[in-house]
Amino acid sequence: MTKPTRSSDGAKTLEQKYYVCQDIYDLETENIFNQQWIYIGRCDSLPEEGDYFLHEQNTESLIVLRNVENKIVALHNCCTHRGTKLITETKGKLKKHITCLYHAWSFAQDGSLVSAPHMNECEGFNKSNHSLASAHIKTFEGFIFLNLSDKPADFDEQFATLTRYGDYKMSELKTVHSITYEAECNWKLVVQNYSECYHCPSLHPQLNRLTAFRDTDNDEETGPILGGPMQLGEKFTSMTTSGQRCCDPIGNVSGDDLKQVHYYVVMPNMLLSLHPDYVLVHQIQRISTTRTRVICDWLFHPTNIKSGNYDPKGAIEFWNLTNSQDWLISERSQLGISSRAYKQGPYAELESMLAQLDIEYKKMLGKTT
Ligand code: FES
Ligand SMILES: [Fe+2]
Repeated sequence: MTKPTRSSDGAKTLEQKYYVCQDIYDLETENIFNQQWIYIGRCDSLPEEGDYFLHEQNTESLIVLRNVENKIVALHNCCTHRGTKLITETKGKLKKHITCLYHAWSFAQDGSLVSAPHMNECEGFNKSNHSLASAHIKTFEGFIFLNLSDKPADFDEQFATLTRYGDYKMSELKTVHSITYEAECNWKLVVQNYSECYHCPSLHPQLNRLTAFRDTDNDEETGPILGGPMQLGEKFTSMTTSGQRCCDPIGNVSGDDLKQVHYYVVMPNMLLSLHPDYVLVHQIQRISTTRTRVICDWLFHPTNIKSGNYDPKGAIEFWNLTNSQDWLISERSQLGISSRAYKQGPYAELESMLAQLDIEYKKMLGKTT
């Protein structure tokens, strides 16, 4: 949604292969999705000890759970006997032990192997050598991030930018509504579309009424977090169907933040939109080169939810409409990009953030051309 303060410097759109080729998709798996901090959900989806959800990513399946120490951890959903997937229910509450269906090896919630029937017949077998593998998890402001790498990048350094938004009390927010969409397009088209408002006058008359497409700025122009604020029109107080807030402002939000919405791409798969009265977050999941799942959550503060002055409907309807408009055009982009007629096109000055996104993407991908 953001307008550039920098120039697009004659940059062009990505080559076709980045949107259609399996080789590129596989390279993204290796160099981006198996290496970077990936946004996978909210802490409030795991309120109690033993609560879990499965996070599936390419060939990987992770059991993300709140353990007995009230910590969120991720265990690989892969039995250490012969590799069988342990859990197939996408979410729920774990029993004391996770027992494999195949030969009944049982694992505690910390991943340790507690029982392996008849394995005492095997000389030298030691249960402590067969714990479930774990993956790195960090939580920040109530958001859960997963990293599958053995040596993850420094999380605090990477997310330092977002620490300035403490007024939004994001760690306390509750998910009051969630919609899962699927779009027939490459995941990068969703990210790119979010990062410019050149398309707003033609595609989003409702949005463009509230925040004019040129009333934007970019305050993060390099690195894995990119974006900035858009100014609300004089008569409007939030992005809703009426243009008015659903409730009082969140936490300590005040001053300029009452008149703007901050939009950030958190590379590679999170879109974070901070409104005066709520926070919207999109989680992007790749399904294939040309298919993408987007989970959109609306987050509100419990104090506002409990107040008599709260109705989230306008925010939900507004973004559901905007999302649908965005996925529709992203699907149409995919169709055109897949054509033999597609050539790299020039980015407008209003799309300079896309030029930067492409640079960051290629850096992560380990490709310069
Ligand atoms: S594969 Fe899990 S117990 Fe044998
Ligand atoms: Fe849009």
